[in-house]
Amino acid sequence: MHLNANILVIEPESYVREAITDVLGSAGYTIFETATSAEARRVLHEEEIDLMLTDVGLTNSAGLEMLNYVQQGRFGLDVIVLTSYTDIDNVRRIIDSGAYDLIAKPVHAYDLLLSVKRAMEKRRLMLRNKELQSNMEKKIKEKMLSLRLHTQEKQQLLISTIRSLVSTLEAKDKYTEGHSRRVADDVMNMAEAVGLNAGEVEELHLAGLFHDIGKIGISEMVLNKKGQLLAEEYELIKKHPLISQKIIEQVPQFKRLSRIVRAHHESFDGAGYPDGIKGEEIPLGARIMAVCDAFDAMTSDRSYRQALDPERAMNIVERNAGSQFDPELVKLFLKVKGFKN
Ligand SMILES: [Fe+2]
Repeated sequence: MHLNANILVIEPESYVREAITDVLGSAGYTIFETATSAEARRVLHEEEIDLMLTDVGLTNSAGLEMLNYVQQGRFGLDVIVLTSYTDIDNVRRIIDSGAYDLIAKPVHAYDLLLSVKRAMEKRRLMLRNKELQSNMEKKIKEKMLSLRLHTQEKQQLLISTIRSLVSTLEAKDKYTEGHSRRVADDVMNMAEAVGLNAGEVEELHLAGLFHDIGKIGISEMVLNKKGQLLAEEYELIKKHPLISQKIIEQVPQFKRLSRIVRAHHESFDGAGYPDGIKGEEIPLGARIMAVCDAFDAMTSDRSYRQALDPERAMNIVERNAGSQFDPELVKLFLKVKGFKN
């Protein structure tokens, strides 16, 4: 994205428009100001706009119509609404329409700059993430196209491509170094203890190795961030199971494995992501992985905290049996890890 973000300001009152343009212009943004929706639509089609600010009145619905227009036209833009009417009904109407933020009029420079800065940071992350994902998908597609091999050889080559992606991820996300391998070992031991057959055990071992591969599509800045993540950064992190699935299902034989990987952050009580499924709706392999993944994450150093000792981590796992984790699998995990006979 260009450094000087382009912001479209739609505001009927010329003195308000000028004040906003002054504040944002002196902060380095390029402003396209308009008084009417018709003019705004023309600008949206002619310029590369990064953010839209629009006035929303009480009876005049032009601002909300513009918000709808931007969303339905898939411009991929966030919209900040400026309004003088901050009663609960109007605020709800604006938020329900999908506005990113709402600023009460009269507009204070500080509120305006803060809101715009946050929206632009979100956009920057979103664009960077999109770029990383499409580069990665391109790489995998190129690899597949370049392969004119026997199916089995092709599969082996794809597995080694995914393995090398795991190494790339571990180099990029220093706090997960060795994480995939340790989870894969725990998952495999659990699969054997559950009584799965050799093919299923091997499938789960690979699922363990590849489960976080989708993090390769997330920027290093977010992965290695010290301190709390912003809501939008957390939303990006939450995409990694879907990206993992997308990569893994490129191998036709890995369809089932890819579904396990997709579900490794689902929670037994339905509070997980990406699908919010619960109980036995979650594939067994994913329920196993959820326990092993959480235990290893807690017992290794992360950018935001030091490793917990194993007893303490195991207590936390036990406390979450029935809510986050399948309680039967927690019992088994205690045995597999040698905490109980
Ligand atoms: Fe994960």
